[in-house]
Amino acid sequence: MTDDPAYFLYHSIGLYPGKAEEMASALTTFSQTWGATDDGQWPSVLGARAEFIDLWRALIDAPEGTLTSAENVTTALFSVLGGLPPDRLRGKKVLIAADCFPSLHFLLNGMQERLGYTLETVPVRQGDFWVRDEDMIAAWDENVGLTLLTFVTSTSSHRCDLDTLIAHGHRMGSLVGVDLTQGIGIVPFSLNDTPADFVISTTLKWLCGTPGAGIIQMRPDLIAQVKPELRGWFSQDNPFSWDLDAFDYAPDARRFEHGTPSVMACVGSVPALRWHAGQDGLADQNRALTEAVIARAGQAGMTLASPAEKDKRGGSVMLQLAQDVDARALVDGLRARGVHVDCRGRILRVSPGAVTTLDHVDRLFIGLKELLV
Ligand SMILES: Cc1ncc(COP(=O)(O)O)c(C=O)c1O
Repeated sequence: MTDDPAYFLYHSIGLYPGKAEEMASALTTFSQTWGATDDGQWPSVLGARAEFIDLWRALIDAPEGTLTSAENVTTALFSVLGGLPPDRLRGKKVLIAADCFPSLHFLLNGMQERLGYTLETVPVRQGDFWVRDEDMIAAWDENVGLTLLTFVTSTSSHRCDLDTLIAHGHRMGSLVGVDLTQGIGIVPFSLNDTPADFVISTTLKWLCGTPGAGIIQMRPDLIAQVKPELRGWFSQDNPFSWDLDAFDYAPDARRFEHGTPSVMACVGSVPALRWHAGQDGLADQNRALTEAVIARAGQAGMTLASPAEKDKRGGSVMLQLAQDVDARALVDGLRARGVHVDCRGRILRVSPGAVTTLDHVDRLFIGLKELLV
């Protein structure tokens, strides 16, 4: 077993040098604060959560008061859906690509009866690996109340053309949300250039944070119209307003909160977000490594399951394994060689990041050559 693991799992969990130590230090501070016999716990941990929110705002250029934390992307979407004015969805279509993250499809599918919309899923064409933008546009008419776009997909690393899709959606009068999860942290994204109506994400992939540290961001004028049904004392401007007949939503993104916020995940993610904010070579390094993966895959006669054009790809490269390959045995065999990848069905997912090097790419392909005989 090597002492220099080749790590290609940024589509799942991102790593950076010093992550374990920095996260341990932040969580140790948390536990010391939380275990202290005084009354400083909440001010301290809510302060750390505020830093999490500010770092995220800076990352995507979100105006103050438009972003808050959420437990995960699925609950973030639930809060949005259950908050929109009913006529935004009732009697309309909700449009989604078949290669969205399945959890979000499960939620959208399950909510259609109660919220009165019809879910329309745009399929992947036979022989393709991702839903084409032109097929989304062809299905997207004035009956679409809402679309959730996937910035970068988890099964092919396809990066959709957000500018074109959002502009089309707004011409159709639809609300357009974007799931940033697989792209954020490795593909540049700014709300100044990309006017989504809302975005949802998590912090654990390319941003290298913890699970449980999701976010919701929404356009300020739309926030004023939403009344999340999942609500509680923290959805108010003053959580300590306990008059049972005087519930009132906070004027900003805090209205998406409900009960006691899950602060620990935010605290654990702050060091990673700080680290990420200080980097400027990540995208270039990723590009060099993904180009090397694609070149070596081509030499090995493997099938690319991601867009070949770099501007249409996120930070991962997916390769389709031949029908007779035992994907689990392949992943196990690579792991035994100190190379970490995963498979979704016959799709091998390769995501090089801050701790991955060109030598690691070489080792991946040496391992593949030995195992794919
Ligand atoms: C595109 C995308 N969206 C969302 C998620 C995660 O959703 P949740 O935070 O609800 O588990 C993932 C996880 O892999 C993903 O790849």
